[in-house]
Amino acid sequence: MSGRIPVWIDTDPGVDDSFAVLCALKDDQLDVRGISAVMGNAEQKYTYKNARNLAHFANRDEVPVYAGSEVPLFKKLRTAPLIHGETGISDAVLEESSAPHATLLAWDALYKEAKAQNGALRLVTLGPLTNIAKAFMKYPELPDLLEGIYIMGGAAEGGNITPCAEFNVYVDPHAAETVFRTGKKVYMFGLDVTQKAYLTDAEYHGIAKGEGRMTEFFRKSTAHILRLKENPQGFELYLHDVCPVAYLHEPSLFYGEMAKVHAETEGTITSGKTVTDLWSDKSFAEEANTKVMLEVNREALIRYMTDMLKKIQ
Ligand code: BDR
Ligand code: CA
Repeated sequence: MSGRIPVWIDTDPGVDDSFAVLCALKDDQLDVRGISAVMGNAEQKYTYKNARNLAHFANRDEVPVYAGSEVPLFKKLRTAPLIHGETGISDAVLEESSAPHATLLAWDALYKEAKAQNGALRLVTLGPLTNIAKAFMKYPELPDLLEGIYIMGGAAEGGNITPCAEFNVYVDPHAAETVFRTGKKVYMFGLDVTQKAYLTDAEYHGIAKGEGRMTEFFRKSTAHILRLKENPQGFELYLHDVCPVAYLHEPSLFYGEMAKVHAETEGTITSGKTVTDLWSDKSFAEEANTKVMLEVNREALIRYMTDMLKKIQ
């Protein structure tokens, strides 16, 4: 349909991935041209299945879903079962999609679509960057064929899987560095901004109450997070992966600044850290290639997500 923004989503669903994918599939402004699955929150056999079933859940079986990497480029795979459960969607069970399985693999399908979209395709990445690094290595002209690369990953400050690394970059830092080095027009939605995109206890219960298959999915898919976060202070549920999708819907919800970003691949205690010159002396002496997102209008982001998810009855 003309006027809609063409989007590709590479993802490892994943609880917040699921909400992000569903938002994109239900957003009339966005035209999801394809979804590719990568290992990450769970093994790829689960993330691929979940991505297919999410398209089905959103009544969007026609959106093609492609299988991608099962392991990082060099590191041993680390998944996140404590947060996302073994299957990636915690206690939720989605109806099986009967859509035909795509024959192309993630990197080939992405390249084909980028060429077809002639510079307009927005690449959204919600998991480790393994599929994208493979695509960039196989098709060196691919970065130039994309309008932009909208990454949930990294952090200018801090970390979540280690004190200084964010999960998606930590799982495959070599892939992330390949993308930061070769990628152009990169937007980094790291923990600096995504940890400001939390749901309060009251907001969570507001969304989780009531009937309907979306509400049930929301409740069941967040079961591990709730069990983990239950403490006297309440809990926080981060909508990390919803951020880049919401940005494509309405960029004014976010604020960011340009910087050069590299991912640390060798450090023994700093592996997976995204090192930026955001606040330093710019000693990288290279041109900034990444917009590091720093602020979000949290209330508006939550409104966006709830409006999109409400479309699923
Ligand atoms: C990222 O890691 C995953 O657990 C989430 O889905 C998100 O993509 C946050 O660090
Ligand atoms: Ca994710």
